[in-house]
Amino acid sequence: MTPPRPLIAGNWKMHGLAAALEEARALAGLLKAQPAAARVALCPPATLIDQMAWALKGSDIAIGGQDCRAEASGAFTGDVSAEMLKDAGAALVILGHSERRAGHGESDADVAAKVVGALRAGLEPIVCVGESLAERRAGHAIDVVQGQVRGALPADLAGRTFAVAYEPVWAIGSGLTPRLADIEAMHAAIRADLIEAFGPTGAATPILYGGSVKPANAREILAVADVNGALVGGASLKATDFIEIIRAI
Ligand code: 13P
Repeated sequence: MTPPRPLIAGNWKMHGLAAALEEARALAGLLKAQPAAARVALCPPATLIDQMAWALKGSDIAIGGQDCRAEASGAFTGDVSAEMLKDAGAALVILGHSERRAGHGESDADVAAKVVGALRAGLEPIVCVGESLAERRAGHAIDVVQGQVRGALPADLAGRTFAVAYEPVWAIGSGLTPRLADIEAMHAAIRADLIEAFGPTGAATPILYGGSVKPANAREILAVADVNGALVGGASLKATDFIEIIRAI
């Protein structure tokens, strides 16, 4: 079985005005000079997707959204659909990020409905899962994450292209990362669930690690079994940092 093609995705979160497109252009220049082994994606705020799509035209960098509404359109003030992200130039969308689960009360069922919306629009979902510090300390990390995998990944994903991102909530933006053995155990558990649920699709689905990935730790994390890439927050905002992570796989 061929292993999943690695994916390194940058999640800009709520950072970036038009001037930040310079970083995206700089990244495209670095990748053009030396192509990467991994697929590369940038997920800017929704306001920048259209401009970034123009700025990166002809580059190898795919663009992603950070969330979408499940419905295609309707009376949902302030929300954005997967169709709209696609129309603006996105090819992927991050769904179920812990900042959405915590800040917007998104449940696994909500995330699963968004995944269906993303697939309908032709977007590749990156579905995020991850335990809290209390859950890890209580010894429940793997159970919690497996529950999220089962609840947030609908059967519609069989045969489709998608990614799962394991992001321990306590590792995000904290500078802390799990022990490599804990990352390996979690990714193995997710892989087993993916294969059980989706068969060969599950074996080919990249499982990304996210949470305080930096140039200094990327190489050792990306070398862990079943770590097929990274979802990078803060270190994706600067092309010179992000390229080091991209080149670490
Ligand atoms: P940091 O890389 O800033 O810890 O963020 C991780 C993350 O939440 C990516 O989605």
